[in-house]
Amino acid sequence: MEILYDVLVVTHLLGMATLVSGVVTRVVAPSAPSGMILLSGAGAQALTGVALTGIASAGLVDTEVDNTKIAVKLVVAVAVLVLAHVVWRRPSAGRGIVGSLAGLTLANVLIAVFW
Ligand code: HEM
Repeated sequence: MEILYDVLVVTHLLGMATLVSGVVTRVVAPSAPSGMILLSGAGAQALTGVALTGIASAGLVDTEVDNTKIAVKLVVAVAVLVLAHVVWRRPSAGRGIVGSLAGLTLANVLIAVFW
C-alpha cells in the first residue's frame, strides 16, 4: 500500500503543478482556455487528497492524520474547485476570481507544509 500512497502523493503534487500552470496560462495568455486546466488541477487535488487521507486514516501506511488540518484543506480545496468551475464556465471571469483561486491554492500549500 506504501507504493500506492506514494504514487498518490506524486499525483497530488502534479495536481498542484497543474493548478499553478492554469493560473500562469491565464496571466500570460488570457484568451487561452485555462478553465479546463484549472478544473483538472482542482479536481485532481480533491480526489487525490481524499484518497491519501482515506489510506492514512485506515492505518494502511505509517502516516499520522491531523483531521483538523485535513478539514481546513478540504474546505479550501472545495472553494478552489468552485472558482475553477466559474472560470471554466465563464472564461471572461474577472482577475479577482483567478487571483482568489491562486491565493487559496497557495494557502493550501502553506497549510500542507507548515501546519
Ligand atoms: C488546492 C488544493 C490542495 C493543494 C494545493 C495541496 C497541496 C499539498 C502539498 C504541496 C502537499 C505536500 C506537503 C509535504 O509533503 O510536505 C500536500 C500533502 C497532502 N495533502 Fe494536499 N493539497 C490540496 C488539497 C488537499 C485535500 C482536499 C486533501 C484531503 C482531503 C489533502 C490531503 C493531503 C495529505 C493527506 C497530504 C500528505 C501527503 C504525505 O503523506 O506527504 N490535500 N498537499
